[in-house]
Amino acid sequence: MQTVITEVAKQLPLSQGESRRIFHGRGHCFSGFEHLVIDWFPPVAVARLYKEVEPDWIDHLSDALKQFEIIKGLVIQQRSRGRDAKQDLAWGEVPEQMNTMELGLFYQVKPQRNQNSGLFLDMREGRRWVMHNAGGKRVLNLFSYTCAFSVAALAGGAERVVNVDMSRGAINTGKENHSLNGLSGERVKFLAYDLFRSWKRVRQYGPYDLIVIDPPSFQPGSFVAEKDYRKVIRRLNELAEKGAQVLACHNDPKNGTEFLKQLMLEECPDFQFIERLQNPDDFPESELEKGLKVLLYTRER
Ligand SMILES: C[S@@+](CC[C@H](N)C(=O)[O-])C[C@H]1O[C@@H](n2cnc3c(N)ncnc32)[C@H](O)[C@@H]1O
Repeated sequence: MQTVITEVAKQLPLSQGESRRIFHGRGHCFSGFEHLVIDWFPPVAVARLYKEVEPDWIDHLSDALKQFEIIKGLVIQQRSRGRDAKQDLAWGEVPEQMNTMELGLFYQVKPQRNQNSGLFLDMREGRRWVMHNAGGKRVLNLFSYTCAFSVAALAGGAERVVNVDMSRGAINTGKENHSLNGLSGERVKFLAYDLFRSWKRVRQYGPYDLIVIDPPSFQPGSFVAEKDYRKVIRRLNELAEKGAQVLACHNDPKNGTEFLKQLMLEECPDFQFIERLQNPDDFPESELEKGLKVLLYTRER
């Protein structure tokens, strides 16, 4: 457990009161801990386990984290059970729902909730980029989840944002995230529906100057990258203004950057690859291609 203690001790002060991943074993940089990640929503830590471990191991982890006085509560989530993920309050106090901060903006999270807490911490640099580049732009946020990209875009001066996600619950949290930051109003739209049912409503609010595409890696029945990503990319031709920017994201370790680059080349030949955004420093990866890919493209004028 010393590996975990050393890394957590290094990461906690870097959070400066904001949310942060304080242990990222899944990046394969900490031998023997590939199944463990720990997210920090001050003052609460959420440890997620991606394989079955002995109860003793969980007790050791739980005791190890107790030595950090700044951590006031610990949730342990066992993700190896898929949809039946199980979470336990290990110790301390953890509210059902709380607000957390990232880049000076507030987001609602539910640390004890099954699976995801409400904010994907690996996308911090993507949101920073959007905040710095959305000024005056018409933004489309596809697969918006709790609309964190939208909050960042509006905080960065976007003219307007359209959010689309099939989860009404996620969209409702998205509305609250905008209220929390005083960003509600006419400049933002929330569309809760399955994107593959119709593109009409998305088209109706276009064209867009900045489009974010951040689908799940694999959500059978809703989005399977190998089959569905191409269908989304193809739509850029009718949705993007000349000169528009696109952030195409993909988080499946099986598919490297080439997967997205090839789709863009085939479906959107007048879009140029600009760069791959860097991932946050709290997500170390032994093999970059297996981590989150966020690719920036620009459409020719
Ligand atoms: C990786 S999350 C998006 C994260 C989000 N961009 C963020 O910054 O927090 C993927 C989202 O895609 C949504 N989704 C999956 N398939 C969809 C579909 N066919 N139409 C609309 N939304 C979909 C899920 O409900 C989920 O919220």
